[in-house]
Amino acid sequence: MIVLGIESSCDETSAAVVRDGDTLLSVVTNSSMDLHAQYGGVVPEIAARSHIECINGVITQAIEESGCTWDDVNAIAVTYGAGLGGSLLIGVLTARTLAIVHNKPLYAINHVEGHVYANFITKVGSNPKLADYQPRTEQPAFPMLALIVSGGHSQLAVFRDHFDYTLLGQTQDDAIGEAFDKVAKIIGVPYPGGPNVEKKAAEGNPHAFNFPKANMHTPSPALVELRANMATAHGPLDASEKRAGEEQAETSGSDVSPAEGLAPPKTMKKEKLIPSYDFSFSGVKTAVLRAAQASIGEDHSFPSKDLPDRLSETQKADLAASFQRTAVETVADKTLEAYEEFAPASVVIAGGVAASPALREMLAERLPCPIAYTDRRLCTDNAAMIATLGCFHMKLGRPTADPYSLEIAPNLSM
Ligand code: KG4
Ligand code: ZN
Repeated sequence: MIVLGIESSCDETSAAVVRDGDTLLSVVTNSSMDLHAQYGGVVPEIAARSHIECINGVITQAIEESGCTWDDVNAIAVTYGAGLGGSLLIGVLTARTLAIVHNKPLYAINHVEGHVYANFITKVGSNPKLADYQPRTEQPAFPMLALIVSGGHSQLAVFRDHFDYTLLGQTQDDAIGEAFDKVAKIIGVPYPGGPNVEKKAAEGNPHAFNFPKANMHTPSPALVELRANMATAHGPLDASEKRAGEEQAETSGSDVSPAEGLAPPKTMKKEKLIPSYDFSFSGVKTAVLRAAQASIGEDHSFPSKDLPDRLSETQKADLAASFQRTAVETVADKTLEAYEEFAPASVVIAGGVAASPALREMLAERLPCPIAYTDRRLCTDNAAMIATLGCFHMKLGRPTADPYSLEIAPNLSM
């Protein structure tokens, strides 16, 4: 089974060919990142124009480099959401046209789910351009806990199987990558923020500042339902039942077990809040801004655009390192909580921020199980992950999209 994947949701135009949902035959990605650098972020119109200019060439090259012909291609998979409307349109219209012209089935792919499937690539073909790729050696096992951390998303989901998952939590404001990008602007390191904050952080003290970590306590309805189901079910979720029992005992604050039928004591210990897996990164971003202003002896009215000229290189490095520590600790803590509650057979990390060595180190430190990572180039936006998920759509007989009517879904969620 050979699937051509097409990805154009943000500033990367990418095409890839994947065989059988595990073997990458080619991936060609053109990024318009350099065109956006002078504006400090992606300019949607510039991204869309760049997709138009290069998408045909990128697809032709991906097919050529894969060693396949159009006859070999069994299906086309395209990102239809979430993303920038203008950018998504170019990929979707191109895929629709190619599906009609070459008479191939078309699969509409959710970009965020796609990120997770970068972890299912375990081999590369004989294409010399892929010779130095280091994907995972084995596909992850189910139930699988997925942490998705990118410029547009911060999500934790538990997958019982392909296409059968529950979203445990997500960001309520900024995504973690977005926070990296905004902090980059505050300290004046160039776009893209993540890798440049990472470089700056390497020179700084991660404990120079103590930034707040948001603790969210309203579980989503999906999480409430999952917990209710788990309370009556068995299997891989047994560990959580035990934990829920322990928590109940802790909240009661009594030495006497509630099972003994006594009324709860009048003086309760501080009530333990029900954990949720939602994130919030806007507070830490604002804390970085306030700390930067205070570092140069100014108050909150000092314009952020003038900060980079006034901050010393040491101050910038300390702000970057302290922010990076707080951000990665936040997601690592939540991942550990979810690991303990759901006892998954595997944990995968997906999305652009999965490329962060600081996050990888923090997870290795905190999680009791090893995590296998895919190649950094497969963490950021690419069509290899889209083609891989497309293979699973096809393998499992999922419905195809109508090439005459498939619409984009810029606000698609998991
Ligand atoms: O997955 P991706 O390519 O695009 C989206 O779907 O959003 O992720 C891009 C995000 C950007 O916010 C970028 O700053 C962040 O991933 N990123 C990093 C690193 N490399 C990329 N963040 C932290 N550390 C990195 N090394
Ligand atoms: Zn992405």
